[in-house]
Amino acid sequence: MRQKIVAGNWKMNGSLEFANDFVSGVNRAVLPDAIDVVVCPPAPYLLTVSSQIKGAKVGAQNVYFEASGAYTGELSPKILQDVGCEYVLVGHSERRALLSEVDDQIAKKVKAAIDCDLKVILCVGETLEQRASGKLEEVISAQVLAGASLLDVVEFGSLVVAYEPVWAIGTGQTASPQQAQEVHALIRSLLVKLAGETAAENVSILYGGSVNASTAAEIFAQADIDGGLVGGASLKLEEFLVICDHCANAIVGGK
Ligand code: PGA
Repeated sequence: MRQKIVAGNWKMNGSLEFANDFVSGVNRAVLPDAIDVVVCPPAPYLLTVSSQIKGAKVGAQNVYFEASGAYTGELSPKILQDVGCEYVLVGHSERRALLSEVDDQIAKKVKAAIDCDLKVILCVGETLEQRASGKLEEVISAQVLAGASLLDVVEFGSLVVAYEPVWAIGTGQTASPQQAQEVHALIRSLLVKLAGETAAENVSILYGGSVNASTAAEIFAQADIDGGLVGGASLKLEEFLVICDHCANAIVGGK
């Protein structure tokens, strides 16, 4: 059975006080242990969160592909691991669009992070214009094939893919469960091409884009949806915990 995961991406939000309160809240709550709950705060709060949080894992929002050296402002996989990260997001659409991140860099980041034993959540997704002009399959294929291009079959064991349609991120407009499932099945078929049936079958594919407490259950019930990457709703602890429960319930529901 594939690992089910709910990852909360705080993006550039929060404060030290918020991070401490969030951790206290998580530590008072009962997290479902059947899933990986991952919290991705801004980098300066990673150590605070990782050193105190119980029952949840910590992820970074970005990583650089070199091991060390003169790369001002960047963070290596080793540094992230040192401050308690087990996961890292790579290729988020905001980084692609606002910080000019391209597939070539993304592929190197994916490889470097996995080489250092981090689990990578590789983010892919199309814009509304791309979907409207019939380019959905082309865009997703290019992003998945490029992003995972440097991995060998064994390394697919450390890869998670997040399908995040750009038009659904932060807009309140979640993809329908059917729309999401369709693209997840496409991603699974691309992974088969790259790594073969067995390895592809074991890669968790998360949906992201306006996931909230009321949309999560139906989305997580889809065959190829193994959890969620949650932005806005991950900043509200109560709601985030409900989303985590929905993910665990999908397992109970037979997934
Ligand atoms: P959202 O963000 O849940 O606020 O839409 C998701 C993401 O960008 O990871």
